[in-house]
Amino acid sequence: MNSLSVQTILHQAVQGQGPAEGRFWMPPAASTFASNIDNLFYFIYWLAVIFFVLIIGTMAYFAIKYRRKDPNQRTSPIHGNHALELAWSAIPGVLLIAVFVWGFRAYMDMSVAPKDAMDIRVKAQMWNWSFDYPSAGVNTTELVVPAGRPVKLTMSSKDVLHSFFVPDFRVKKDVLPNRYTTIWFEAIAPGEHQIFCTEYCGQNHSKMLSKVIVKSQEDFDKWIEGQGKLDESIPLSEHGKRIFTERGCTACHTMTGQAGAGPSLKGKYGSQENLADGSQVLVDDNYIRESIMDPTAKVVAGFQPVMPTFKGQLRDDEVDALIEYIKEHGGQ
Ligand code: CUA
Repeated sequence: MNSLSVQTILHQAVQGQGPAEGRFWMPPAASTFASNIDNLFYFIYWLAVIFFVLIIGTMAYFAIKYRRKDPNQRTSPIHGNHALELAWSAIPGVLLIAVFVWGFRAYMDMSVAPKDAMDIRVKAQMWNWSFDYPSAGVNTTELVVPAGRPVKLTMSSKDVLHSFFVPDFRVKKDVLPNRYTTIWFEAIAPGEHQIFCTEYCGQNHSKMLSKVIVKSQEDFDKWIEGQGKLDESIPLSEHGKRIFTERGCTACHTMTGQAGAGPSLKGKYGSQENLADGSQVLVDDNYIRESIMDPTAKVVAGFQPVMPTFKGQLRDDEVDALIEYIKEHGGQ
């Protein structure tokens, strides 16, 4: 059975309103292979519906038609029916093989990235995503990609198991701490799509969100050119505030005085901090920088050494911005 022809028929039969629209079972189909995945889903779905009705319907019909009508009635001896048995083995057999071949081909298509795909590295850590563009030396917290071009993601985790999931692209793969996993996709048109972490990874798993932002090739080129420096017309502490949120610092730290998994940073700058080893440290630029790059070096008393390092993820000017932001909420 040719899966392409089945695809085409089903595409016309069930997709109707075009591949980009979201439907009852599925979000919008925003990548090149999404509509194929959907068609396979609907093929299996309708197969299940049809056979359910057929089998349960026949069973119910026979149960009523051949019900025992008087207590002495005996079932007539049945010795089988070769034609019927062959039919009910062969027809589902062919359908199952069709589903296998279709599914396997779709899986291989999704697994093997085209040679000309753009490379992006994905880093997962509790509880945020970051994206490296090796060819441009850019690191971001949202995945920005050009439309109409294959993008290959090479993913790894700094700590526990996470899973990268973009429902609109029908793309999902585990992200592991000790091995690289890859996926690829080609976004059809400019737009925004949700990224989820879909493997329970601790306290803030449900907040481990990001976005894919699809731009036209032209806008993407402009965007990547503008990366790598902070806009100087905006105060440094404003950048700091943005980075503080984008990089997921807010998952553990507040500026309100309320402690989370980490200490509140309100009024800290310029104060003496008690450390877990009983010593004290002055909270200045150097201490804050050290705490971002090497968080377990000087752990504040009363807290666990659970903060991940941001080494290699924040540029110097971004660290400066964070320090300015913390300073602005300082005490002395
Ligand atoms: Cu990361 Cu759940």
